[in-house]
Amino acid sequence: MSVKLKCNQAILKILQEYNIYTRTYIKDRKKFSRLKLKDEIFIPKVDNGGGRKVGRYCSIADGVSMFSFAHPLDRISTASFTYEPNHSFINDASLKQINKIFPIKSHNPSSLIQKLNIQNDVWIGKDVLLKQGITLETGCVVAQRAVVTKNVPAYAIVAGVPAKIIRYRFDDKIIERLLKIKWWNYHFADFNEIDLSLPICHYLDILEEKIAKNHIKIYNPKKLYFKDLLALNKKSFFDSLF
Ligand SMILES: CC(C)(COP(=O)(O)OP(=O)(O)OC[C@H]1O[C@@H](n2cnc3c(N)ncnc32)[C@H](O)[C@@H]1OP(=O)(O)O)[C@@H](O)C(=O)NCCC(=O)NCCS
Repeated sequence: MSVKLKCNQAILKILQEYNIYTRTYIKDRKKFSRLKLKDEIFIPKVDNGGGRKVGRYCSIADGVSMFSFAHPLDRISTASFTYEPNHSFINDASLKQINKIFPIKSHNPSSLIQKLNIQNDVWIGKDVLLKQGITLETGCVVAQRAVVTKNVPAYAIVAGVPAKIIRYRFDDKIIERLLKIKWWNYHFADFNEIDLSLPICHYLDILEEKIAKNHIKIYNPKKLYFKDLLALNKKSFFDSLF
């Protein structure tokens, strides 16, 4: 479920301030552009204990989805007659058969949905299916069309159904260094003087030195919350000018 917003001037101004773009495809070519007046934004409603947390520098391809809610597994049946009060076709069938509504036992599937935790620099390939409640640790990669049912360790590459580790992006020593400096807490543009074609160990030598000498500082961007956008939804063009 989501809330639909139409872009007004106040919303556009804030999206610009936070450098938020939209992505479209024109003849299969990906294009990033600013939203325009009256464009629609869908804000997910995260009121069911579910939701997801996504860290910095993550890449999430098209078609990524999550396991849907669960039916009860331990009852006579997984069918909705045991737990769903609002299906009129079930109630009508019950009335016809026993002259009363079948006594259901509530089962709140949405309360069972746990948060998906995506750490930093995670790349999730196209059409991946993720189980609720798992953690994709920093630096991991999920191969195209994988079905991930368990936590993925930092810098692991997983593939297949169910997903298994095929290898790690780096050796243990490099992973340890990456996790120690937490490079994702910095602004990528501050790395501009380090040559990306260097082997990772030399790249890290330079980055570690820059951090140790305080030549680059932790980047703390202002956060934008959905509730701020919702509040701006009704703001008129004139309000946004002042
Ligand atoms: C995982 C990935 C990054 C390749 O990693 P890699 O380490 O270079 O993988 P390789 O091609 O060397 O394959 C390593 C092994 O994993 C297997 N493998 C690779 N991708 C796989 C996949 N998607 N599903 C199942 N197995 C896969 C290979 O068959 C190979 O198996 P083997 O060792 O038994 O021969 C790539 O396959 C992938 O899925 N990329 C995502 C593409 C995408 O979705 N892009 C969207 C843009 S945002």
